[in-house]
Amino acid sequence: MAVERTLSIIKPDAVKKNAIGAILSRFEQAGLQVIAARMLQLSAADAGGFYAVHKDRPFYGELCAFMSSGPVLVSVLEGEGAIAKNRELMGATNPKDAAPGTIRADFAESIDANAVHGSDSAETAAWEIAYFFSKRELCPRS
Ligand code: PPS
Repeated sequence: MAVERTLSIIKPDAVKKNAIGAILSRFEQAGLQVIAARMLQLSAADAGGFYAVHKDRPFYGELCAFMSSGPVLVSVLEGEGAIAKNRELMGATNPKDAAPGTIRADFAESIDANAVHGSDSAETAAWEIAYFFSKRELCPRS
């Protein structure tokens, strides 16, 4: 399996719950390495740009308002099959459908406050990583 990079966001609801460490531990325990990380408060425009692909969906305004409602932790995870592995660790978008033991099953309350974001493809991951990080901010181990 190829080594990949993926963008992760620990969303405002999980940050408020003081769950940053618990969530990052799950990534590390699954063999993913954090090669970049930053805590920040997104503006509505930052969130709008990041989620522009969803701008015609009915929940776009709500999603952008939520993502700019408090601090988030953005990070880049690297490892074999990192994109799918992160999505598997996250669980289904709606925590009601998320498998037991997944991050969303354990930390999320609802589909609109669902604890984490993870890139859904290699193309998306490259775009999302570049949205938040410059190349010199990525610190792979080797
Ligand atoms: S996914 O994970 O991208 O396949 O899910 P998708 O259904 O396409 O949703 C895209 C993002 O929108 C969020 N979402 C919602 N936010 C608020 N209200 C409702 N109803 C809702 N439905 C979906 C979902 O969490 C995805 O955000 P990210 O940050 O990518 O997980």
